[in-house]
Amino acid sequence: MAEYSIAPFYDLLLYPFVHSLRLKLLQLCLEQNYSSILDVCCGTGQQLKILGKHGFEVYGVDLSEEMLRVSQKGPYAPECLLQDASAMSFSSDSFAASMTTFALHEKPKEIAQAIISEMIRVVQPGGHLIMTDFHFHNASSRYSKSLIRAIEWTAGGEHYRNFKDYISLGGVPQLIEGLPLVPVKTIAAGLNSIGIFVYEVTN
Ligand SMILES: C[S@@+](CC[C@H](N)C(=O)[O-])C[C@H]1O[C@@H](n2cnc3c(N)ncnc32)[C@H](O)[C@@H]1O
Repeated sequence: MAEYSIAPFYDLLLYPFVHSLRLKLLQLCLEQNYSSILDVCCGTGQQLKILGKHGFEVYGVDLSEEMLRVSQKGPYAPECLLQDASAMSFSSDSFAASMTTFALHEKPKEIAQAIISEMIRVVQPGGHLIMTDFHFHNASSRYSKSLIRAIEWTAGGEHYRNFKDYISLGGVPQLIEGLPLVPVKTIAAGLNSIGIFVYEVTN
């Protein structure tokens, strides 16, 4: 995948926008005390580094060699594998929780749903899926929605088309319809334009 050639600058560019979100995810994991966490489409592994430094057993998968190269830099290098999130090599029921952050909106619905199905498969029954992505609704700030739209427009092409389809579909709650998941909680972030959706796996 060549589309993440910005990998060396990715964390620097995103830091002002996502650092507080990453701390919210850490807080959630501390509250839930997960014994193991898989980050699907982990990118540069920034979230895994934060979780790993707090003692969590963490793993990541991503399809971009550039992003994974960045994940191995620095004092803490999480275990990250080059894998397609829609067909992972892990055995079923391997993890207490699986998370994905800012990865679903950029994909066609069928691929996003295939990734979610894989996340369900690798999580133990009663474990959690934590899906963090854009979530536009009446309480979303116009400022944050405009900023997100501008960033996504810059990404262009298929990425932007998928983002628009994802928003008009209704985001994560619509993607998971019919899957063996029950809502645990939703945490608002990004001036109410981002949702952290936590679901329990029921099968
Ligand atoms: C917008 S980045 C988000 C990265 C990270 N989750 C974060 O919070 O910064 C989306 C990531 O999804 C990865 N990706 C896209 N399709 C994938 C797939 N089928 N399997 C695994 N990773 C994929 C990309 O390589 C990229 O690193």
